[in-house]
Amino acid sequence: MCGIVGYLGDRNVYEVLINGLKRLEYRGYDSAGLALVAPGGEIKIYKSKGKVSNLEAYCSGKDLTSRVGIAHTRWATHGEPSDCNAHPHYSEDGNLALVHNGTIENYQLLKEALQQHGCKFHTETDTEVLVQLVEHIRVTNNCTTLEALQAALKQVIGAFAVAVVEKNNPDMVLAARRSSPLVIGIGDGEYFLGSDGTPFVEYTSKVVYVKDDEIAVMERNKPLKLVNLDNVEKKIDVKKLQLSIAQLEKGGYPHFMLKEIFEQPITMRDCIRGRVVEGGSRVILNGVMDNKDKFLNCNRIIIVACGTSWHAALLGKQLIQDMCRIPVEVEYASEFRYSHPVITDRDVVIAVSQSGETADTLAAIQIARSKGAFVYGVSNVVGASIPRETDSGTYIHVGPEIGVASTKAFTGQVLVFTMIALSVAQYKGTLTTEQVKAVGEYLMRIPQLVKETLKLNDKIRNLSLIYTYARNFLYLGRGYSYPVALEGALKLKEISYIHAEGYPAAEMKHGPIALIDSEMPTVIVAPKDHLYEKIVSNVQQVKSRGGSIIAIVTKGDTTIRELADHVLEVPSVPECLTPLITSIPLQLLSYYIAINKGKDVDMPRNLAKSVTVE
Ligand code: AGP
Ligand code: GLU
Repeated sequence: MCGIVGYLGDRNVYEVLINGLKRLEYRGYDSAGLALVAPGGEIKIYKSKGKVSNLEAYCSGKDLTSRVGIAHTRWATHGEPSDCNAHPHYSEDGNLALVHNGTIENYQLLKEALQQHGCKFHTETDTEVLVQLVEHIRVTNNCTTLEALQAALKQVIGAFAVAVVEKNNPDMVLAARRSSPLVIGIGDGEYFLGSDGTPFVEYTSKVVYVKDDEIAVMERNKPLKLVNLDNVEKKIDVKKLQLSIAQLEKGGYPHFMLKEIFEQPITMRDCIRGRVVEGGSRVILNGVMDNKDKFLNCNRIIIVACGTSWHAALLGKQLIQDMCRIPVEVEYASEFRYSHPVITDRDVVIAVSQSGETADTLAAIQIARSKGAFVYGVSNVVGASIPRETDSGTYIHVGPEIGVASTKAFTGQVLVFTMIALSVAQYKGTLTTEQVKAVGEYLMRIPQLVKETLKLNDKIRNLSLIYTYARNFLYLGRGYSYPVALEGALKLKEISYIHAEGYPAAEMKHGPIALIDSEMPTVIVAPKDHLYEKIVSNVQQVKSRGGSIIAIVTKGDTTIRELADHVLEVPSVPECLTPLITSIPLQLLSYYIAINKGKDVDMPRNLAKSVTVE
């Protein structure tokens, strides 16, 4: 999920690689490493946990002479961030070194098969399985590394961008991808490789974008070759790199937050990949599967979290209650820890935290465990404290989130709750296979539907200009849209510093309605669901008091269109999936309002990405 750099040519390889890794730092990572192929063929690997600067310090004074090399920034998904788990990884015999971004979902099965053939593993990564598999195939079939890579990638389920160098063939780099970015830069007698064009933008603008299941073969003094997994040669389409040095940071986006909002079709796909299977009719989460008795026999589920993760938890409650008919409570971790909670060993506690380091959530986990509850974690950062302190859990796999205001992690958390609910419901029999499929099929389409929803970007940018100077906002929703309204209000507060309140729409008449006047915009989240008719009356209540209304509605809605000042239409999805779609326009709205006000959206005042204090 983070970064790959490669180089074959006559420049100082080490410098090209290190500078390239620095360019990719914006993607976020936890460790870095590189493999240099010395002129005689020997492959030297240097790697280190932490920043690229640590790697640089580690390499200083070493013999770095080489003409070919690959490098990597890792964002751990399998195994904690450590020197050992950092890439590149060697094959057992030292003939190959490989770097990989992404995940190999069937790594366990492949690993067991290789172990039976006597392969030894030295790291916890899924990646090491791939490099051992390629070398195992090469040796047993006495074939080329290219052929072995083709055969290995046919066996792999998952997402990857990989680059390989070989001791026996020191003037070659192989690179392949599936659902993970990879770009080749063609210079004069030299090749560059990158997760995007940023590592080599100053050297060449001639690029080739590798497509899924294609392997690029870069050899000294030979033209670039692209082949598929069946060794059919593919056409090489050289494009001009549309990137300037000035745009380099943040992958061309002006802010991490906008980049992360726009990444959601990809991060959502990464989150469900290999988990929603068989055309959507089955959901497999290893953490749930391995502990299904705990979920099936519990008296209740308590979800603890803070901030945006708490909003995801509210949606988790509705999803689990609706689909599994298990009582669910949601608690702010900071309140829960001091509430003298009644917990027994028949309770399941789910702790949700993007960073995995939030102090209040950690404390809540410790209390729950001390009372004998089974504790399940939902986190993004592999190896963080919360995944380490919980009994089991699920990673949301959305890649590093750098903007302080959470966006793609929120949708990842909601997706994981949807999958937890569906998988427990399968085991419990509270949903039939057909009912699981009805949601699962849509779940698989969600990334595409989010992409469509993001087309509202320009409309929302224009709309934001009208509301930039509002001093207060009200956000309303009901049912599944109520936590979305809360999250929309939080996003606006965090980055634009405008006061905003999220409320259940029907609760408005018990107080907040007093605030409504022409100065107070109300954002109403009103997709077509079983409460739609009810929310229409809430829209009317705001309208009749002179309030201006921005409504998020399902495509084709005519009733609310008549009442609202502005409507943002989103694609139709089953009710339980609406938050994944309706939260997108709210993220964009807060982003643009904050930008109009000249605020620092990525680092809003007084906030921290990881709240490790009480
Ligand atoms: C989200 O936009 C916030 N910055 C904040 O509310 C955050 O969600 C909260 O601090 C919890 O963080 P966590 O998910 O890392 O535990
Ligand atoms: N799954 C691999 C690992 O955990 C690669 C992670 C990445 O994309 O950086 O090592």
